[in-house]
Amino acid sequence: MNRLQGKTALITGGNSGIGLATAERFAAEGARVIVTARRQSVLDAAVRRIGHGAIGIRGDVADIEHHAALADELRERFGALDIYVANAGVNTITPSAQVTPEEFDAQFNVNARGVFFGVQHVAPIIRDGGSMVLISSLAATRALDGHAVYAGSKAAIRAFARHWALEFKARRIRVNVLSPGPVDTSILEKMGIPEADRPGFVKAMAGMIPAGRFGEADELALAALYLASDESRFVNGIELLVDGGMSLN
Ligand SMILES: NC(=O)c1ccc[n+]([C@@H]2O[C@H](COP(=O)([O-])OP(=O)(O)OC[C@H]3O[C@@H](n4cnc5c(N)ncnc54)[C@H](OP(=O)(O)O)[C@@H]3O)[C@@H](O)[C@H]2O)c1
Repeated sequence: MNRLQGKTALITGGNSGIGLATAERFAAEGARVIVTARRQSVLDAAVRRIGHGAIGIRGDVADIEHHAALADELRERFGALDIYVANAGVNTITPSAQVTPEEFDAQFNVNARGVFFGVQHVAPIIRDGGSMVLISSLAATRALDGHAVYAGSKAAIRAFARHWALEFKARRIRVNVLSPGPVDTSILEKMGIPEADRPGFVKAMAGMIPAGRFGEADELALAALYLASDESRFVNGIELLVDGGMSLN
């Protein structure tokens, strides 16, 4: 299928996990894909894997200058974008009593501030009728041990989206939130769970998911494809939970 034929899509955090799977799906559906992330070598490998002329641009979403420079570069190279997927995110698990200001800021700077200023800078170069997909998390609505700060940073995205869906209505730009439940990606390594504890963590989490398993990155990519494409043209301002039913528990 060519559901994104002729479209240009920017995906933050596109060198791994859900972002990479989304970039691969979008490219296979005919989109010109631009992915961003911080680690250059991983970004280079991702661009090779995505193929279809994908482009990688290194940058940190916590840095407002990065968003400004990126928007300028993309305007110059492509004129405008059709799709923005704000996917880059970080997660550490820490009981609230032990959260330091540094850890708090690190999560909010990427997950909330990064999304806010990303959209602020990219919105002017999104074509009228375009689509924004913001990646939040089931954790924003369902309490999970040690996730208070992460949950707060992801809940901000849901709140931003409600406002943006209205702020951009004159330009027919749709803004929807995609909230994954647990998905098997490298975020698990980065969450600070010791390797020895990971099988136990995965088993305990899987037990809370009616599907009985973690999601796969491509299952989230399919949902992102729906929200990004014209198939969802009458869908605006929603949160789509893709969590194997975990929100029901
Ligand atoms: N996996 C899950 O269970 C799950 C559940 C709910 C929500 N989510 C959300 O889904 C999104 C994708 O997560 P994932 O599971 O695919 O994790 P992942 O494999 O760790 O991917 C995270 C991506 O974000 C990039 N990134 C992180 N910090 C960044 C920064 N400051 N600037 C630019 N890029 C940055 C990473 O690349 P670099 O490190 O190279 O920068 C990487 O490409 C995140 O927003 C996450 O919170 C994941």
